[in-house]
Amino acid sequence: MRRAVYPGSFDPIHNGHLEVIARAAGLFDELIVAVSTNYSKKYRFSLDERLEMAKSAFASLRGISIEPMGEGLLAEYCHDRGASAIIKGLRSSSDFDYELPMATMNRQLSGVETVFLPAESRYQHLSSTMIKEVATLGGDVSDFVPKAVLKRLLAGAPRPDSPGGH
Ligand code: PNS
Repeated sequence: MRRAVYPGSFDPIHNGHLEVIARAAGLFDELIVAVSTNYSKKYRFSLDERLEMAKSAFASLRGISIEPMGEGLLAEYCHDRGASAIIKGLRSSSDFDYELPMATMNRQLSGVETVFLPAESRYQHLSSTMIKEVATLGGDVSDFVPKAVLKRLLAGAPRPDSPGGH
């Protein structure tokens, strides 16, 4: 049984994440999407909301589980769950520069390997941060997020005709 962990804030999950998840799920018997909590980070959505949005993005969860990761070490989380690999999506060389030392540290800490999957070109510009900003300012992000995420983003965005809205 080859198990991998795809960790992230998923604040919120977007189509770039989903594409990486689909490809990673094809490489491993089981993929855990681990939704992290870092108390020094300010999230737009609560952990429960981030988990719920991630779960609702899948019609079938065969071979994929979506779990809270807690606030501990990723290497320990992988070790405790018997995962041999961490999945990371790479959008650019700066992602690689950022991820490489973490991959080395995680391997030294628990022997877990990191598998990098290059983002598909149509998702290379996507980030949760950018999607939140565009949605908040009234831009159309419907091509970039699943329906349940769009609904939540729109619930928090100003209406175009409201005072201060665009
Ligand atoms: O989506 P994000 O916010 O970029 O995800 C970051 C995440 C969860 C992958 C990263 O913060 C992480 O690995 N957190 C666990 C803490 C840890 O293990 N730190 C040492 C990394 S070498």
